[in-house]
Amino acid sequence: MTVSNRLNHFQTGIFADLTQKRNQLRAQGRETIDLFVGTPDFPTPEHIVRAVSEAASDPANFKYSLLDRPDLLQAVVSYYARRYGVSITPDEVCSVNGSQDGIGHLGLALCNPGDVVLLPDPGYPVFEAGAFLGGAEVYYYQLLAKNAFLPDMTAIPEEVLRRVKYMVVSYPSNPCGAAAPRSMYESLIGYARKYGFWLVNDNAYSDIIFDGREGFSFLSIPGAKEVGVEFFSLSKSFNTTGARISFCIGSQTVVNALKVIRSQYDFGMFTPIQMGAIAALTGPQESISAQRAEYQRRRDALCGGFRAAGWNVPDSQGTMFVWAPIPPQFSNSMAFWNALVDHTGILCTPGPAFGPAGEGYVRFALVRPAEQLAAAARLIGSSGLLEHGSDRA
Ligand SMILES: Cc1ncc(COP(=O)(O)O)c(C=O)c1O
Repeated sequence: MTVSNRLNHFQTGIFADLTQKRNQLRAQGRETIDLFVGTPDFPTPEHIVRAVSEAASDPANFKYSLLDRPDLLQAVVSYYARRYGVSITPDEVCSVNGSQDGIGHLGLALCNPGDVVLLPDPGYPVFEAGAFLGGAEVYYYQLLAKNAFLPDMTAIPEEVLRRVKYMVVSYPSNPCGAAAPRSMYESLIGYARKYGFWLVNDNAYSDIIFDGREGFSFLSIPGAKEVGVEFFSLSKSFNTTGARISFCIGSQTVVNALKVIRSQYDFGMFTPIQMGAIAALTGPQESISAQRAEYQRRRDALCGGFRAAGWNVPDSQGTMFVWAPIPPQFSNSMAFWNALVDHTGILCTPGPAFGPAGEGYVRFALVRPAEQLAAAARLIGSSGLLEHGSDRA
């Protein structure tokens, strides 16, 4: 008896492996500093928790919800107008149980055999999962430091572009920490029109962006709605990762296709969670800018601390991550990752976990207070790793 060949595309998550490694180290009495998973350590705003718990105390809310509440859709419409200056209608919105769910099932909604999906390398793993589940072929476009971690469309062969069904982009970028200019989206919309593919923007970090940059919605770019959708997650802006709240917004064709697929395996977002989402979108927003400032302090503490210790790591422009080129005396990410754990107990994520172009990098998550991140950077400096540590002969 066998299982599906499709499983050959998938491995157990890197974060499960890293957690196991962390547990082993702790069992040996080693102290670790966990900077590998991007789970925010900030509290969920009180008014969101209250809205969920009040709704959860009403037994009527435990029925299948089946549909998005009209006031939830309206809350998204108003939020997009206020926050992003984007005009949408309720039928251009559908809830998903996290962008992970939406993007993970998008290939089922959009792809036929022989279709190609264009994905970033390095990139967030669910992009690939969605394409493979949809039976598509994947073509990876590389995000390289020399291109400011933006796609170079001229590097993609014409015959590939003609077969593309959809392309995923995501800025500020996890793992690269790069922000994108509006002009990048304008150019990609031109490509999408020319070659007839959908553009999918994963907008998880528009509120975590630094040095005065403005986070924006892809749908604010003229023509975007005709060629694509955006996944708008509340997870990081409102610290609701476990509540699984996100929306697919934009082209009605894509939104409707995703609704059809979702209706086959999902009976709607739990009503108390819908109420929490309404509270998040319509309630006080001050925590978002306070949190952005705190993430920037953390970025400064870690990247500045690395540079003070002699490790030349550029500042992230956004996201809760730092994408660090490994010190030159190490030959690959895993060698550095192992040496870092041995010398300091600091656990980050090896770059190749996000794709082959992640080789030569490691990713740190800004999930500890600035003082602790500064101390972690000093620990790396004082450990001798940067002067003497090397896997080269
Ligand atoms: C780029 C990116 N997309 C999507 C997600 C997942 O978002 P959600 O919690 O809405 O599933 C994450 C979470 O870390 C992410 O980094």
